[in-house]
Amino acid sequence: MSPLNSNLILLFSTLTHSLTMALLLHSTQTKLTHTPLELAIFLDLDTKSNSHNTQVLNQASNDIIIGVLDTGVCPSWVYPRFPPSAHTHENFLQCLTLHSRNDSISEVIYTSSNSSYSFVLESSIRNPRFSTPSTPKPLVIVTPLGVSQIQEILSCSQKHGMQVRVRSGGHDYEGLSYVSPVPFVILDMINLRNISVDVENSFAWVQSGATLGELYYEIAEQSKTLGFPAGLCPTIGVGGHFSGGGYGTILRKYGLAADNVIDAHLIDVKGRFLDRKSMGENLFWAIRGGGGASFGVIVAWKIKLVPVPSTVTVFTVNKNLEQNATKILHRWQYVADKFDKDLFIRVGLTGANSSQEGKKTVQAAFNSLYLGGKDKLLPLMQESFPELGLVSEDCKEMSWIQSILYFAGFPSGQSLDVLLNRTLTIISYKAKSDYVKNPIPESGLEGIWQRFYEKEAVSAALILTPYGGKMSEISESAIPFPHRAGNIYKIQYVVYWSEEGTAATESHVSWIRRLYAYMAPYVSKSPREAYINYRDLDIGTNNEGNTSYRQASIWGTKYFKNNFKRLVHVKTVFDPTNFFRNEQSIPPLSH
Ligand SMILES: *[C@@H]1O[C@H](CO)[C@@H](O)[C@H](O)[C@H]1NC(C)=O
Ligand SMILES: *[C@@H]1O[C@H](CO)[C@@H](O)[C@H](O)[C@H]1NC(C)=O
Ligand SMILES: *[C@@H]1O[C@H](CO)[C@@H](O)[C@H](O)[C@H]1NC(C)=O
Ligand SMILES: *[C@@H]1O[C@H](CO)[C@@H](O)[C@H](O)[C@H]1NC(C)=O
Ligand SMILES: *[C@@H]1O[C@H](CO)[C@@H](O)[C@H](O)[C@H]1NC(C)=O
Ligand SMILES: *[C@@H]1O[C@H](CO)[C@@H](O)[C@H](O)[C@H]1NC(C)=O
Ligand SMILES: *[C@@H]1O[C@H](CO)[C@@H](O)[C@H](O)[C@H]1NC(C)=O
Repeated sequence: MSPLNSNLILLFSTLTHSLTMALLLHSTQTKLTHTPLELAIFLDLDTKSNSHNTQVLNQASNDIIIGVLDTGVCPSWVYPRFPPSAHTHENFLQCLTLHSRNDSISEVIYTSSNSSYSFVLESSIRNPRFSTPSTPKPLVIVTPLGVSQIQEILSCSQKHGMQVRVRSGGHDYEGLSYVSPVPFVILDMINLRNISVDVENSFAWVQSGATLGELYYEIAEQSKTLGFPAGLCPTIGVGGHFSGGGYGTILRKYGLAADNVIDAHLIDVKGRFLDRKSMGENLFWAIRGGGGASFGVIVAWKIKLVPVPSTVTVFTVNKNLEQNATKILHRWQYVADKFDKDLFIRVGLTGANSSQEGKKTVQAAFNSLYLGGKDKLLPLMQESFPELGLVSEDCKEMSWIQSILYFAGFPSGQSLDVLLNRTLTIISYKAKSDYVKNPIPESGLEGIWQRFYEKEAVSAALILTPYGGKMSEISESAIPFPHRAGNIYKIQYVVYWSEEGTAATESHVSWIRRLYAYMAPYVSKSPREAYINYRDLDIGTNNEGNTSYRQASIWGTKYFKNNFKRLVHVKTVFDPTNFFRNEQSIPPLSH
C-alpha cells in the first residue's frame, strides 16, 4: 500500500475515561479491514504497511485512584524513595488473612512472590509510560470477589498505613489507579463485573470492574433499541469512566454517562456499604463526575438505558489541506453544536503526507453518527453543512451496536464477541484537554498545522468533540461535571510514541505542552477548563501529605469550576482523614 493511495482515517473514540481512544487506521477509503484494537501499533504506518495498522488510543478511564508522574514526564518530580517496608507489608497481609471472615481471600492476594503478580499487574496497564523498571510497584494486589473482601482491605489498609489505589479498567491517563509514591495496595475490580439488564424497565446494574464493551454487549444481547451514552473504547472500566462523566457518540442527545446514573453502591472509609438512599444526595452527587477515587470504593452503578433507533447511519469523510480542510473545519465550528441532537460529527486531526511528493499536510476526518437513516441525514447535511459535500456513498446504515464496533475501529461484520476482549496492545501516550467557546479563526488553525509538521507529531492527533444539544440543557451544577452551555466543542490533544526511554518521553511531552501553550488564546480562560477523565497532572497537583484547599483548587476549579467547593464539602463529611487520596483527589477542609 503506498502512502499516496492510503487514507489515514482517524476514528477517535472519546471517552472519558474512556479516555478516548483514537484509532488510526491505515486503510483504503473506509474499508475497515483491520485488526481492531491493536492499541500498540504505531503511527509509523509506513514501516508496517503490509499489515493493517490500527492504533487505538485509549481514553483514560478514571479509575479510582492515585497516581504519579513518570520522571520522564515531569523532571522536577522524583518518586520519594520509601524503603519497601517489609514490616507494613507483612502486617497488612497478616491482617487480611487473620481477620478475613472468608478464607478464600488468600486466593485473590498477589504479592511479588506469586508467579502471577506481574501478569495481574500488567494486564490492566494501558500506558507503558507507567510500566517501567523505575515505576513504583504495589506491595500487594488484591482482586476481591465481593463486598466483604473490599471491606477487609480497607480496614487492614487503614490499620497498617497502606495506601489503596482502586483500578477498574486501568485507563487513567496518568496511571493513578495503579501507581503511588508511597507503599500501596492495588484493589483491582477485575472480578467484580456482573451486569444485569432490565429491558422492561430500561435500566441496568453494572459492577465497576466491567468494561464498556461488556456493558454494550449485554445490552445488545437483550435489546436492539436500547443503548447507553458512554465512551467509545470497549476496554475502559465503568468504575472510573462514569465517576468522571463519560461520553460518547450520543452525548448531544442524552448527555453523559454520569447524567444517566440513577443509583450506586459504594463502600466508604468506614467500611459501610451504601446505596443512593443511605449515602444521601450529596455523596451521590459527588461521585457522578467528581471522580470516584476521592470518596470510597464504588462497587456498582445503576444506569438508565436510553432508546436508540433500530437503524443508525455512520460516516467518515476525510479532507486534507488541499481539499479545503481549513475552511470546512472553520465552518464546522459554527454548526457542530447546533445540529439536530440526533447528529454527532466529531473531527480528528492528524498530520499526513501530501499528494505532492515530500510535502506534508493535515487531514481532518469528519466522523459521524446519526440516530436515523440516511434518507433523513442527507437532506439535513445539505441544509446545515453542505460544505462537507456528504454523499450517499459515504454513509453506512447499521444497528446501534454495530456503530459501537465502527467507532471502536472493528471491521464491519465482526462478531460482537470482540467487545468482550480485554486484551490490548499498548503504546505510550500523553494527552491534554481544552474547551472552545468561540470559533478559532483560520489563522489560529494554521498555527496548529505548523505544529503537526514537527517531528514529535508523527503520531499525534487532536480530537474535536461537539457539545450543544442535551449538554447545554443540563445545569452546570447538576453534577460535578461543569462544562455545559457555552461550549462549542472539547479538544483532546494526544501524542503517542513507541520509543522507550526518558528522552523520547520528554520530547513528546514537550511537544504537546508547546501546542497547549500555543492554544491558550483560543480556548476557555479563568479557569482554563479541563476534563477530569483526560487526567493531566500538568494542570496542578496536591502537595505531598497534607494538601491545602488553595493548592488543590488550582487543578480543582479547572475540572469542576464552582462545583469544586461542594466536592470539598462532601469530602470533609465522608472522608475527613483523607484516606482516599492521590495527586488530584479532593481534599477535606481540615487539611
Ligand atoms: C510520509 O512520507 C515520509 C517520507 O516522505 C515517510 O517516511 C512516511 O512514512 C510517510 N507517512 C505516511 C503516513 O505515509
Ligand atoms: C484480543 O485482542 C488482542 C489484541 O488486539 C488480540 O491479539 C487477541 O487475539 C484478541 N483475542 C480474541 C479472543 O479475540
Ligand atoms: C500468593 O502466594 C501466597 C503465599 O505463597 C499464597 O498464600 C497465595 O495463595 C498466592 N496467591 C495466589 C492468588 O496464588
Ligand atoms: C467466601 O467468598 C466466596 C466468594 O465470594 C463466597 O462464594 C462464599 O460464600 C464466601 N464464604 C463465606 C463464609 O462468606
Ligand atoms: C454475579 O452474578 C452471579 C450470577 O447472577 C451471582 O451469583 C453473583 O452473586 C453475582 N456477584 C455479585 C458480587 O453480585
Ligand atoms: C476549495 O474551495 C474553493 C472556493 O471555495 C473551490 O473553488 C474549490 O473547488 C475547493 N476545492 C476543493 C478540492 O474542494
Ligand atoms: C499534616 O498535618 C498534621 C496536623 O497539622 C501534622 O501533624 C502532620 O505532620 C502533617 N503531615 C504532613 C505529611 O505534612
